[in-house]
Amino acid sequence: MTGPLLDIADLSLRYGDTRILDRVSLRVDTGETVGLVGESGSGKSSTVRAALRLLPPTAQLDGSVRIAGRDVLGADARELRDIRSSEVALIQQDPRGALNPVRRIGDSLIERLVLVHGVARPEAKRRGLELLEAVGISRPELRFRQYPHELSGGMLQRVVIAAALTTRPALLLADEATSALDVTTQAEVLAILRDLQRERGLGLLFITHDLHLAAAYCDRVYVMLSGEIVEELQGADLFAGARDTYTRSLLDAVPTIREHHA
Ligand SMILES: Nc1ncnc2c1ncn2[C@@H]1O[C@H](COP(=O)(O)OP(=O)(O)OP(=O)(O)O)[C@@H](O)[C@H]1O
Ligand SMILES: [Mg+2]
Repeated sequence: MTGPLLDIADLSLRYGDTRILDRVSLRVDTGETVGLVGESGSGKSSTVRAALRLLPPTAQLDGSVRIAGRDVLGADARELRDIRSSEVALIQQDPRGALNPVRRIGDSLIERLVLVHGVARPEAKRRGLELLEAVGISRPELRFRQYPHELSGGMLQRVVIAAALTTRPALLLADEATSALDVTTQAEVLAILRDLQRERGLGLLFITHDLHLAAAYCDRVYVMLSGEIVEELQGADLFAGARDTYTRSLLDAVPTIREHHA
């Protein structure tokens, strides 16, 4: 494949007269971590949901989205299913919402492999256990048999990340995927993601409220306001290089940053 893993160009989203996204363009290359930041309601989740066409039927989309070179907005149902199940995975904030409470962790973990990809159960289980270990879960055999209520939030989020990786996607869309975790667990989960990313050349779109984290963790960062991308910066330049007034106001709203940069 040539070109970016995720290529969103002039993407607009409306519900009737309400405009949610206005000509959003962003890209993620192989092996790259790209941040998407902006105030609540600016359209970050809508952007990734639109990119996967996970929107209510009343949504009107314009522009183009390509994932691994494949046209998402023009895809028919079968093609869309295939793109969603083999090229990309979306990790959202709430792991309890992502896992069926009455199913064993192991079954949730490998269901896409078995049901969508037709991998035989023993092989799927082997891969599932390997991934649980890779995301730092101790005693994976035991976890495999447990139910979500028996695991802590941090552990469940690791399970959700492992589940996202079972099908070996090229692109991960992480929507506040670590925001609910305590700082230590978040750091561990991010380190694991980074290792997996290096090993596999994953592209990662990382949505976060935390500008500090975006600066430390992302190669590039897009700043979103009212459904538009207003600035694009290198992660390392986020604090020093921001020119847009809105970006500056977001940065100034982070108290620890002022202390560090005063
Ligand atoms: N199904 C929908 N119908 C109409 N408006 C919607 C729908 N879903 C989201 N919106 C609106 O789209 C805008 C952007 O919402 P979105 O969830 O994308 O923001 P966000 O940047 O992810 O915010 P947060 O940081 O709080 O998660 C909001 O004004 C929201 O009310
Ligand atoms: Mg959101």
